[in-house]
Amino acid sequence: MGAVRKILMYKIAIMATALAAVVMIGSVVLMTGPYNPFLASNGKAAQIARGYALYGVHCAKCHGKNLEGQPNWKSPLPNGRLPAPPHDKSGHTWHHTDEALRGITKLGLKPFAGDNYESDMPAFGAILSDEEIEAILAYIKSTWPERENTYQQQITRQSKAQPTE
Ligand code: HEC
Repeated sequence: MGAVRKILMYKIAIMATALAAVVMIGSVVLMTGPYNPFLASNGKAAQIARGYALYGVHCAKCHGKNLEGQPNWKSPLPNGRLPAPPHDKSGHTWHHTDEALRGITKLGLKPFAGDNYESDMPAFGAILSDEEIEAILAYIKSTWPERENTYQQQITRQSKAQPTE
């Protein structure tokens, strides 16, 4: 009986160690992953998680699974159109105000770059709700370092302070 008990204890110990390892690896993946839910406040974390999922479905095929954009995104394609830029800090998404980011996602680039401007960026106004667009943008922003976030918040505040026509 003693030997069986010992083996049982041994098995439990191995299982507990394995479980601890899974929890540890899981935490590391979460903390170093594309977004960090521990850094965001709770309601925000849910919005960001939703945005992350929606981004994967609607945006990742062009802007990259990890927001890296298409290769050579600064050089026009043979058809004259521009490739999809990254949404991480190496791109210029963070140079746009909230209003511009919402607008581009909803309406595409024509309203901003002119009716004759040809672009592969789709208009998502008929596909995504305002709330969903907001969640995607919250996810994108959650990946920016403090400097880019502060800059983007500042230009957004400044644009609101200006009188609108
Ligand atoms: C079919 C490919 C494609 C998909 C899908 C796509 N985009 Fe784009 N997007 C582009 C391209 C190409 C550009 C650059 C267009 C240009 O400058 O002419 C762009 C530009 C943008 C810009 C402007 C970026 C900047 O730095 O000026 C934003 C914001 C943007 N996309 C958001 C999104 C979001 C959010 C989604 C998902 C809901 C999405 N895009 C899905 C192709 C795509």
